[in-house]
Amino acid sequence: MAEMTGKTVLITGASRGIGAAAARAFAAAGARVALLARSNDSIAEIAGEIGPDQAIAIPCDVTRYWEVAAAIEATQKTFGSLDVLINNAGVIDPIAGLAEVDPDAWDQAIDINLKGVFHGLRAALPVMQAQGTGTIIAISSGAAHNPVEGWSQYCAAKAGAAMLTRMAAHETQGSALRIMGLSPGTVATDMQHRIKASGINPVSQLDWSDHIPADWPARTLVWMCGAEADAYLGQEISLRDPEVRQKVGLV
Ligand SMILES: NC(=O)c1ccc[n+]([C@@H]2O[C@H](COP(=O)([O-])OP(=O)(O)OC[C@H]3O[C@@H](n4cnc5c(N)ncnc54)[C@H](OP(=O)(O)O)[C@@H]3O)[C@@H](O)[C@H]2O)c1
Repeated sequence: MAEMTGKTVLITGASRGIGAAAARAFAAAGARVALLARSNDSIAEIAGEIGPDQAIAIPCDVTRYWEVAAAIEATQKTFGSLDVLINNAGVIDPIAGLAEVDPDAWDQAIDINLKGVFHGLRAALPVMQAQGTGTIIAISSGAAHNPVEGWSQYCAAKAGAAMLTRMAAHETQGSALRIMGLSPGTVATDMQHRIKASGINPVSQLDWSDHIPADWPARTLVWMCGAEADAYLGQEISLRDPEVRQKVGLV
């Protein structure tokens, strides 16, 4: 596992699920963590649990560029650097067929799942370029590569976010910046509860025991910050890959 002591990690969508597990995993590896989400109480509670020397909670809606930029600035001011950005915030709703989905809800979800990732990249890249180092990881999905019934915004946004991440890797080629995606497979979080309740596609029919715990992608993210993951720079890692699971030490 990567040694994270002295490193600062900013995680969007850290109020629950994969983001909250990632905050705990990075802190356990020695990093200082900035937790961003809209649910102030939840991020404050997790940051409090980690401890004030090692964690700060910053209320932030990723749909607003200025909030993301201000959060990155506050993180730098508090901890002195920004070494890792985890572009994790995401929503699955609205779940509905293209012919009936609510256009306003679709629009809002694109603002989170696609533009939220752009906002993180746009605000973090200049900081990391000035430092000469930094790692940016986006939480991707199988939905970025395949259509799934009822998930038009999610599939389109995740495909766009995966391309944005590749764009960032492409435009920073030759620099020391490390940019990757992580496709976790299905993870036992609130998002999967919403998917199950929809009953709309094969993912909603999966048994709860088919999902991996949020701690698995969290530990993989820490591993991705170490040199062992350098072979995957510019790529999307799949946590369904048994070789990756073995390298991370999950099996
Ligand atoms: N669970 C899975 O099976 C699975 C599979 C593949 C990929 N993923 C991806 O993994 C990521 C995390 O998902 P999860 O399963 O952990 O879902 P989750 O438990 O529902 O958590 C989603 C997180 O995103 C945050 N968020 C949503 N809208 C936001 C906004 N506008 N601004 C800031 N934060 C926002 C939420 O915080 P607030 O509501 O407090 O703002 C929450 O912390 C997502 O990108 C998801 O697409 C999940």
